[in-house]
Order: sequence, then structure tokens, then C-alpha cells
Amino acid sequence: NRNVGILAMDIYFPPTCVQQEALEAHDGASKGKYTIGLGQDCMAFCTEVEDVISMSLTVVNSLLKKYGIDPKLIGRLEVGSETVIDKSKSIKTFLMQIFEKSGNTDIEGVDSSNACYGGTAALLNCVNWVESSSWDGRYGLVVCTDSAVYAEGPARPTGGAASIALLIGPDAPIAFESKFRASHMSHAYDFYKPNLASEYPVVDGKLSQTCYLMALDSCYTRFCNKYEKLEGKQFSVADADYFVFHSPYNKLVQKSFARLLYNDFLKNARSIDEAAKEKLAPFSSLSGDESYQNRDLEKASQLVGKPFYDAKVQPSTLLPKQVGNMYTASLYAAFASLIHNKHDTLSGNRVILFSYGSGLTATMFSLKLSAGEHPFSLSNIAAVMDVDRKLKSRHEVAPEKFVETLKLMEHRYGAKDFVTSKDCSLLPPGTYYLTEVDTMYRRFYATK
Ligand code: ACO
Repeated sequence: NRNVGILAMDIYFPPTCVQQEALEAHDGASKGKYTIGLGQDCMAFCTEVEDVISMSLTVVNSLLKKYGIDPKLIGRLEVGSETVIDKSKSIKTFLMQIFEKSGNTDIEGVDSSNACYGGTAALLNCVNWVESSSWDGRYGLVVCTDSAVYAEGPARPTGGAASIALLIGPDAPIAFESKFRASHMSHAYDFYKPNLASEYPVVDGKLSQTCYLMALDSCYTRFCNKYEKLEGKQFSVADADYFVFHSPYNKLVQKSFARLLYNDFLKNARSIDEAAKEKLAPFSSLSGDESYQNRDLEKASQLVGKPFYDAKVQPSTLLPKQVGNMYTASLYAAFASLIHNKHDTLSGNRVILFSYGSGLTATMFSLKLSAGEHPFSLSNIAAVMDVDRKLKSRHEVAPEKFVETLKLMEHRYGAKDFVTSKDCSLLPPGTYYLTEVDTMYRRFYATK
């Protein structure tokens, strides 16, 4: 099969959000810490009527409707999530409600989980399936769905929530360059969820940043090596039009891109001109470990990378800055931002994506874009996602109300025998919402 990749996309995020500037003041953090220090503008969160299952039902239903896809034409459905509602029953099985209605129960795939990486695992599985001899000619569907919430403290402003659906098949406007794919996987305790009674992770913030950057370096080096072997020429940031990162918060994305330039500098790549070489020269002999701690290097490489960042990274930062860390959906929301901002000019472009999940698992891969044909065209994907309208129609909530909501959700997590407020007044039409969890922990949803 040729040009296997993403044919269509849709995104859903809760209409409830809190401004980072307001949260900063509420938390007693210094002014600018969340907005400039972390680089975040706003954070979406689920109220008691929404969860990762309702969001994924909403986005799958919406994608099928808006692109006119017969549910019978889905042959594989995989979900990536790290939000545990049930230790056995997959989120995928909840989504089967949509497909059973049309008589389609012949759908392979279950959930994948490892922190923010599960969505990428699901995506690679679906792409591999379409490329394989077991493909039956139908579409794959990938769903990334997460609600990122943290205990009170420095990590809390790095939450977020969203669900993304990606339709997978051949002749895609967003095609995988499958030969250029590099991973780095190892054992680390940087961010994990050992307490099954709590939705909150245990997180070593500083370690998670270093693990992320080390995994990035490793993937980039391997990616470049593979490219060079196959193409017979060096790869540098000059060889891709855009770089899209898993985005826990924007500052880390800025640091990550700067790190790629530092890598380019170390191998004397064509992206680094004489002026840049001069600025980075003092750091040429740092050990790997030293380079992760060196603040001057961080500053110098960010400065060198600034024009590249503005052109090649900034267009993908909209949703992650406005919605927050969406865990498995974060990378694909960043990619959705790029489509939203640049759909007119992306044809022929190469986009590099970096996926990271703590614990840790990471993959860098390459996509080749073309305009596509309706309904599977970049411009239609942008129209369907309708990002501007979704962002503009949100309801800003005061930090006190956000904190109160999270307290209520702490009690509801793992609980049974309750009904929700069923208040769906803020939700757009077509949104699924949670109505009840019965005495057997069975969950019930309704559609607005
Ligand atoms: N104005 C401007 N900048 C400020 C201000 C201010 N008033 N105050 C602080 N800053 C800057 C700091 O200098 C720092 O920037 P730097 O990294 O460039 O030095 C930044 O704001 C953050 O401040 P810190 O004090 O370093 O960080 P803090 O201890 O508050 O925690 C952290 C930040 C670690 C990101 C925390 O939010 C966290 O643990 N988040 C969850 C973990 C995470 O997202 N990890 C990423 C990879 S794993 C994953 O995806 C889950």
C-alpha cells in the first residue's frame, strides 16, 4: 500500500478552562511563572460530567459524521490513554457502542498504555496493519484520550484534557515515511501512577525533563543515522519543514527544539551557519550529562534556534498552549494546530514528530504531506476541526471553581453508586456526558 497515513482527524476538548494568569495569582506563584516560565496560556479540564470515555465517544462520533464514514468501514480501532478508569475493560469496548449500532462488531484492536506514548503505539499499530498482509481493505481508527490532572503543587498548571481521533488508510494526505522512524526506550521513574486509588501521578519534574531531552537526543541521532544511510546525505533541521513535539508545556518544546540545533552543531550540519557556530563553540566539549544541566548552553542554543523555531515549530504550539498537556493527545493536538494554521501551504512538506511517554518510551517519525482530495484533504481536516471556534466558545472558570472541581473528582475517582449533576449546559450539541455510575460500577452516558 502506498502513502499509508492519516486521512482525517477530529479533536474535542472540554469547553471548561482556567486561565494560567489567573491560576498563577491564585496559587501565589510569581507573576509570569506559568505564562512565561512554563509558556502556557490556558488549561482545559473535565467537569464531573465528562471523562476520557465521554470525550472519546464524542470525538469518534463526530469524525464519522463529519467525514461521512460508514461505521461498517472501520476494521481496526485502537485507543491510546493513560487515564485509568478500569484496569481490565478497555476504552475501546465503550466505543464499540457506536459500531454495534450499525452491526459492525468485526473490529480488531484494544487500548495501549504507557504514559503519553499510548496514542503513538496505537497509531503505529494501525499504520502497520494497513501496510500488512492482514489488512482487509477497511480503515483504521486511532483515538487518543486523556485527562491530565495533578495534585496541588508545581505540576498542577501542566494539566489539560482532550480527545483526538485519526482515520488511517492508504493514499493519505498525511503519509508516513515509515523508513525514517527511530525509538528510544528504557526504564526510568520520572512520572508514574503507582497509587491505583488516585488519578494523580507521582512525578519527579526535573528528572522527567531530563529524561525527555535525553530520549529526544537519542531518537534524533538514530533518526539522522537512518536517514543518512538510506538517502546518502546528512539530515539536519534544515531538511524538514516542521517539527512537532509532545507538549507537556511550551517551555519544554522550546528547549527541545534548541536541543536539536545543538545536535546539529555537534555534527557540523548545514543548519548551523558561521554565526551560530561561534555562539555554540564554548559548549563543544561538554559531556552529555553536563550539557543537560548547562543553563548557558540552553540560552545560547535557544537564541541560535529562534528564527528556526518561529518558522518550524511555533505553528504547532497553539492547542498545547491553550488546552495544556493532553497526554496521549498532546502530540497530535500540536500536529492539529499545524494543520489549522498552515493547511494551505503544507503540500509537499515534511513534518517530523516526536512522541514521549514517561517511564520511558519515545519515537521520532516523519510525515510527508499533500493537499489530498475531499473529504480527505488538509483544508477539509482544518475545516472539520474548527479549532478557532472551539477555542473561542470556551467558558473560563475561576481558579477556585477549578480547584473545587478537582476536589470533587478526587472523590468520584474509583467511586460507585452516584449520579452526576447531568448539567450539560456548557457542552456543545452532540457531546456525550456521564450521567451515572451504578452499584456495579457500570458507567452510563447520554448525548446532548
Ligand atoms: N517569570 C518567568 N519565568 C519564571 C518565573 C517568573 N515569574 N518563575 C519561574 N520561572 C521559570 C523558571 O526559571 C523555569 O524556567 P526554566 O526551566 O527555563 O529555568 C520555569 O519557570 C519553571 O519553573 P521551575 O521552578 O523550574 O519549575 P517548577 O519546580 O515549578 O516545576 C515542572 C515545573 C517541573 C515542569 C512541573 O510543572 C512538573 O513537574 N510538571 C509535570 C511533569 C512534566 O510535565 N514533565 C514533562 C515530561 S513528562 C510528561 O509529559 C508528563
